[in-house]
Amino acid sequence: MSTPLDPRTGLTVGVLGTGRMAHLHLRALAAIRRDGLVINGETWPVALAVYGRDPEKVAACAREYQAAIATTDMDELLERPDVQVIDNCLVNALHYGPLRRAIQYGKHCFTDKPLTIELSDAEDLLAAARAAGIQHGIVQNMRFQAGTARARELIEAGALGRVFHVRVVFGYFVPPQVTNRPAWFYQREQAGGGIIHDMMAHFFDLLRFILGPIDRVYAEALTAFSERMDAAGHRFPVEVEDAAAVILRFRSGALGDIFASWVRRKHEEVPFFEIDGEKGSVICSFNELRFQGADQTAGFRYDPTRRQTGYEEGWETIPLPEVDPFEVQLRNFLTAVISGRPCKPDWEDAVTTQRLIEAAYESARSGRAVDTRALN
Ligand SMILES: NC(=O)c1ccc[n+]([C@@H]2O[C@H](COP(=O)([O-])OP(=O)(O)OC[C@H]3O[C@@H](n4cnc5c(N)ncnc54)[C@H](O)[C@@H]3O)[C@@H](O)[C@H]2O)c1
Repeated sequence: MSTPLDPRTGLTVGVLGTGRMAHLHLRALAAIRRDGLVINGETWPVALAVYGRDPEKVAACAREYQAAIATTDMDELLERPDVQVIDNCLVNALHYGPLRRAIQYGKHCFTDKPLTIELSDAEDLLAAARAAGIQHGIVQNMRFQAGTARARELIEAGALGRVFHVRVVFGYFVPPQVTNRPAWFYQREQAGGGIIHDMMAHFFDLLRFILGPIDRVYAEALTAFSERMDAAGHRFPVEVEDAAAVILRFRSGALGDIFASWVRRKHEEVPFFEIDGEKGSVICSFNELRFQGADQTAGFRYDPTRRQTGYEEGWETIPLPEVDPFEVQLRNFLTAVISGRPCKPDWEDAVTTQRLIEAAYESARSGRAVDTRALN
């Protein structure tokens, strides 16, 4: 049974973690607390709780986001009846255990991606959440970023017509000494996998959301450095991939091509998307989007001896709103907790995404495309 809710006391959201993503979640939750969570004309108070293993970081987070509860004892937080929602921002290896315990205590559970490291654990969490009748949600910020959300709207409105293909480019350079992101992403026991596990958790979900089911997956992967160093200079072996090229066939017939790399020197806002259809095309990142209708498409003639000009013409820049996708998602989730209505994306979506990720790994191991029709 989930914890009973009372509009007078409102909701307390217990955030697990004090790292990069915990800060984004806490900031979004603080904005929801400030602006109010209004449901059926009633304003529900929102309070924050934070758990972390480092007392100084917990105290700093509690100060910065005015958390009502701050603790270094995760079980104490999970057990508290005055905490109705758990939001897991810990390393991947600590998604399954804490979420499983939170369900046992009747908490509604939100988590950053991926749901778990092992697919069987993700399936177990989904079954347990359903049996307990709790709300379950997962970060899929790419569904809610301004650029990708607008691209989907344009497709839904028919502005692209029949979609031929989508291309995604993602990546930036992470040097052998990992200083620009947490080093645990390169340690299999903490992360579960490399860039396929980490980034296809976003792109498979987003592309299914935009273009529908994926029927076939083919992947090739590369590990650039067999050893890396953390920021403190400790060496460790790398057993996960740095780069992947993933080819998709959608049920609609469209092609998908995702290139993701942590050894790429970037020159644009990433990720970058190109979606081409019969009536028009979209190119976008999270914060920029351009559209070209078929009537604006120049009759380009290829001549390898001439410098090409005018390739920026025909693209209309579409203004985008400022959006915090974490705030949008967390507001949707808390609203669902109170209203009892379903909220997407949920752990069913997360399990489907993880099944597709397993298929990508199977393809990378075998060198063959994998039929994924039964998976989504
Ligand atoms: N949605 C996105 O765009 C996005 C981006 C990056 C990371 N993520 C996901 O968010 C989650 C957190 O990633 P991050 O980048 O914030 O990492 P991070 O390293 O900044 O934070 C991880 C947190 O886990 C805690 N932790 C690690 N080991 C622990 C242990 N043994 N006991 C207790 N706490 C422990 C750390 O203290 C820290 O608070 C991961 O699941 C990651 O995949 C999502």
